[in-house]
Amino acid sequence: MKKLDKLAIIGGTGLTSLQNLDVVRRETVTTPFGEPSSALAYGNILSSEQTLETVFLARHGHTHNIPPHMVNYRANLWALKEAGVTAIIAVNAVGGIRDDMVPGSLVIPDQIIDYTSRRINTFFEENLTHVTHIDFSYPYSKELSQLILDAAQKKQIDIVHGATYAATEGPRLETAAEIQRLKKDACDIVGMTGMPEAALARELEIDYASICVNANWAAGLSDELITMEAIEKNVEVGMDKTRRLIETIFDSLN
Ligand code: HPA
Repeated sequence: MKKLDKLAIIGGTGLTSLQNLDVVRRETVTTPFGEPSSALAYGNILSSEQTLETVFLARHGHTHNIPPHMVNYRANLWALKEAGVTAIIAVNAVGGIRDDMVPGSLVIPDQIIDYTSRRINTFFEENLTHVTHIDFSYPYSKELSQLILDAAQKKQIDIVHGATYAATEGPRLETAAEIQRLKKDACDIVGMTGMPEAALARELEIDYASICVNANWAAGLSDELITMEAIEKNVEVGMDKTRRLIETIFDSLN
């Protein structure tokens, strides 16, 4: 991992702000790719002796009105790069496929399969001096993932390390048959925001890791249909843990 100069948190469903971030300024920025989802909230990590500047970005907008397939991922990542961010911890709500991905629990993914179909997924398109292929064998930063894991152990917050994230287009949830296919593909969790975010971070050489919150059993894996109420309830449980976890990560960086 490169030196952790500036950390960003990209908050997902259920995490549109961070209470323990002492916000010193908000900046509305624009990029060559358009507007990011929200203003960048700059903060100093509370209780710090030396200051680590941190940036918070609400992926779905401050009022949670941008659906996963409409997020301007390029603008978000570009804005963070321009802000000097060297590491991103992304928070993503997911459906659980593997038996231990119980609603309300947390998991740090280590692999991704991209099933999205209509998103702009690269910065390397035009005005290139040469064709560029990034290495993406291991999409998440091992060191940053370990930092999250260590913080969780310190606070005794249960978190599973290691899962393959299936990124789907959405915004509809999957069919039961689609989930069976993902299971055969060895996917453990399914969500709509993991890609192209992780790949764009890699293109910009920003270390990237994710904390996923299991919001529901994926389609067809429980007797009940998936309701927004149930998702919201489980996300709230998971996000409470995530907030505490981020607080501990902040402390460990001081
Ligand atoms: N599928 C896709 N994305 C999700 C789900 C799901 O079941 N739950 C939360 N985000």
